[in-house]
Amino acid sequence: MLALAAPAQAREGPVELGTAINDAGFRFGGAEYRDTFTENFDAATAESAMKMTALQPQQGQFEFDGADEIVDWARAAGKKVHGHVLVWCADEWTPAWVVNGTWTRDELLAVMEDHIRTVVDHFEGRVHTWDVVNEALTAEGARKDCVWQRVIGDDWVARAFAAARAVDPGVRLLYNEYAADFPNPKFEALVALVRGLDLDGVGLQHHTYGYAPYQYDVEDAIARLGALGLDVHVSELNVTTSQIGGDLREQAEAYWTIAAACQAQPACFRVTTWGFTDAYGWRPPSEKAMPFDEDYQPKPAWHALERGLARTAGPQLGPPGPPTSPAAVTQSQGELSWPQVGDATYTLQHRDAGNVWRTVATGMWWPGFSLYEREGTWQYRARAEDGAWSEPSTPVKVDRTPPGVPYVVPQVAWFRDSAMAGFAADDPPLPDGSPGSGVEPTPLQPYAGQGVIPLRFVRVSDRAGNVSPELNGELRIDAAPPRVGLTCPGRIVRGARATGRFSASDEASGLATPPAGTVALGPRGSASVTARDVAGHTATASCRYAVLAPVRLFTRTAAVRDAAVRLRLGCRLAVCRGAVTLRRGGRTIGRRRLTLAGTRTVAVRVRRGGAVAVSWGSDRLGLVRVRAR
Ligand code: XIL
Repeated sequence: MLALAAPAQAREGPVELGTAINDAGFRFGGAEYRDTFTENFDAATAESAMKMTALQPQQGQFEFDGADEIVDWARAAGKKVHGHVLVWCADEWTPAWVVNGTWTRDELLAVMEDHIRTVVDHFEGRVHTWDVVNEALTAEGARKDCVWQRVIGDDWVARAFAAARAVDPGVRLLYNEYAADFPNPKFEALVALVRGLDLDGVGLQHHTYGYAPYQYDVEDAIARLGALGLDVHVSELNVTTSQIGGDLREQAEAYWTIAAACQAQPACFRVTTWGFTDAYGWRPPSEKAMPFDEDYQPKPAWHALERGLARTAGPQLGPPGPPTSPAAVTQSQGELSWPQVGDATYTLQHRDAGNVWRTVATGMWWPGFSLYEREGTWQYRARAEDGAWSEPSTPVKVDRTPPGVPYVVPQVAWFRDSAMAGFAADDPPLPDGSPGSGVEPTPLQPYAGQGVIPLRFVRVSDRAGNVSPELNGELRIDAAPPRVGLTCPGRIVRGARATGRFSASDEASGLATPPAGTVALGPRGSASVTARDVAGHTATASCRYAVLAPVRLFTRTAAVRDAAVRLRLGCRLAVCRGAVTLRRGGRTIGRRRLTLAGTRTVAVRVRRGGAVAVSWGSDRLGLVRVRAR
């Protein structure tokens, strides 16, 4: 890639105002034509007098008189002259001897380079900026068909700039293009093209049909070229009025907006109108495309240019009320309006979540705008003339992004017994990072049944009306509790580890608790276990069992011997530690702490016989009839 020429100097001084000098106007328009130019403009572009068809109508036959007369007249009036155009990729505007010739690549290269060298050399010192190449791209951003492209190939553009650079390094070389005056495929191709060229700037024609592009877009196009170190000029500005019913106020708004865009961008050094009077020029007088009418009287468009280029200023009026929009959420921003301030003109700005105010349009004659907005959450403000800005509008959300696939709410894997369900969906954020308009969850509706309930062709819309993709899914209802059973032994020994075994199952939502296991059996003599399914049903199984004391008494009668009675005790555990107690009439008559393992006879001291209640800890073991000897 060629290194770009020296970075563009940020504009020194105000934006220049140029215009195209029409051959007929220059020749037959008399003093009115010429004086209107010299009194109002800083620079001249020959509308056609410096094109190849004029300068070299036959091969090798150069005719400069017509061009020289315009160039010298303009320079004598102290004006700059912009050279337009060395090579135009338009067969209908290329001399027939070139288009109809049979050339090799090298032969046509020689023709092109010879023309460039001869012309740039001829005007050296008088013309300091040249459109070297004009309109080499299609609307889609491809290379346009013309004899230069067909015969030489893609590098014809670079070769043209190299030839011009070689003649006079002091001349600033520009590439000129139409309908690339705001970011679009052609503009992107223009950026790619110029990055590979040895040039100093770009001319963006603005052949505007009634309505200007949004100002922020025009500014972005200029700024992006400026960021490449290139100078930019609005090279051919006109606004035809047939599509706007001849409305000169609307025309003025378009001129004003384009001029204000250039004025706002340091890389833009000039605005050139493509003619200046409706009496002479490219478009028929009926189009009223120019800033001066057929009698050379300034139209609103002229005053718009002066204001757009800050050559004149407007009153510092008080701020209008903030703009309002009929919809707070929409797919495509519709009408904006704000309170009228006398017969003022207005500027409208917008900002999205990025919070940078950008100008939509300038010199608006009516306090309203029909705006097709990018997605985002936008605020608007307006000002009358050069006055203060209004308060920002309440936010307007422009959302064209459909929500995601709907999902069932509440988001449960299983509904229990029946379902009251609705649908919701995620709504992606907008390009500016602000939230999407969001989806109102649908009203809940009843579903019945058991198991999987199919859901077909379900769509939801976000608040802006964007429709989601279909949900073809299901919801699940579990109408039956789980089954559970608990098996326990008929009896247990207190203190011994004893368990019951349970098993559970659930056909539909499945168990949320273990499908099997054990429960510890405690001294209470009953146990239960509850199974729960995913849907939330529960089922409980229980069992009862006897709880035996850890120690059992085998003895029923005994005799006192040696002031003691012998009791046969059995420990149902591995070992029993505690105390055996003998009571009669509620009084303890004998007690002995011991550690018992298995079954054994133990002596407990007592004095007298009788019915004696034997216990172990808190367990009553039984009665023993004790015979005294
Ligand atoms: C136009 C002239 O205005 C006409 O008089 C002529 O007949 C055709 O060319 N883009 C350009 C200009 O770069 O050179 C064209 O000028 C308009 C479109």
